[in-house]
Amino acid sequence: MYTLLSHSRTIFMGKETRCYEHATSTNEIASILLSNFRPAEGTAILTFDQTAGKGQRGNTWLSEAGKNIAVSYILYPLFISAAKQFLLAQAIALGVCDFIRQYIDSNEVRIKWPNDIYVGSKKIAGILIENTISNAGIKNSIIGIGINVNQTNFDNKLLNPTSFTKETGKEFNLPALAENLSACLEPRILALKAQKTALIETDYLNNLYKYQQSATYLDSDGIPFEGTIIGIAPGGKLIVQIKDKNCLFDLKEISFC
Ligand code: BTN
Repeated sequence: MYTLLSHSRTIFMGKETRCYEHATSTNEIASILLSNFRPAEGTAILTFDQTAGKGQRGNTWLSEAGKNIAVSYILYPLFISAAKQFLLAQAIALGVCDFIRQYIDSNEVRIKWPNDIYVGSKKIAGILIENTISNAGIKNSIIGIGINVNQTNFDNKLLNPTSFTKETGKEFNLPALAENLSACLEPRILALKAQKTALIETDYLNNLYKYQQSATYLDSDGIPFEGTIIGIAPGGKLIVQIKDKNCLFDLKEISFC
């Protein structure tokens, strides 16, 4: 069972929001909805108690009941080709940063490639985008966003989590935040629709964690190396300058220390 909410400040993002008291995974629910009918563009599946959240690379996303936001939006961005799908991830990550900066007074809100959201060196939000591709472009996209809000104790398995409460010492109203998240994402999606590609790419680099800083990374064998992130390739791979060479890395080929 869900409660139907209507966000008044947006044209389409979260305009129809299905708010579940408990849910296994909002991305899974979005996928089931899509297999049954065509939900309106921007439909949001929202819960504050997600019990089997999916993370990147087959990981689980852990979230304490009643403390955090778990939301998935359904979009039909057919205008984005398969080759350009990283642009969608960039636009969403920027919208989540815009949102977090409204509450956390920090110059340190950054996107850790590809689309983790960090405050300083700690993760505050994760994004899992699941695209269905057709010849014409992205047929549908499930944009899953998990944001740590009022949680203060985290599982020891998690390396470096933080939350709105840990950063500010304050408690936040989850439904109000969820509505504002939709309002922050919408302009970024509209910029994407208006083909403002260069703006999105530049903004993404300006918000990128460790961009143009020398740092230590691990390769896929766990061997450390020094390098400097200098850009993003058109397909979304990370470009790292190592000594005088530019090397491309996919998700599983590099980890941050
Ligand atoms: C990651 O950092 O590994 C991505 C985490 C994504 C979690 C969100 S919570 C809402 C949506 N539903 C899911 O099952 N996963 C995403």
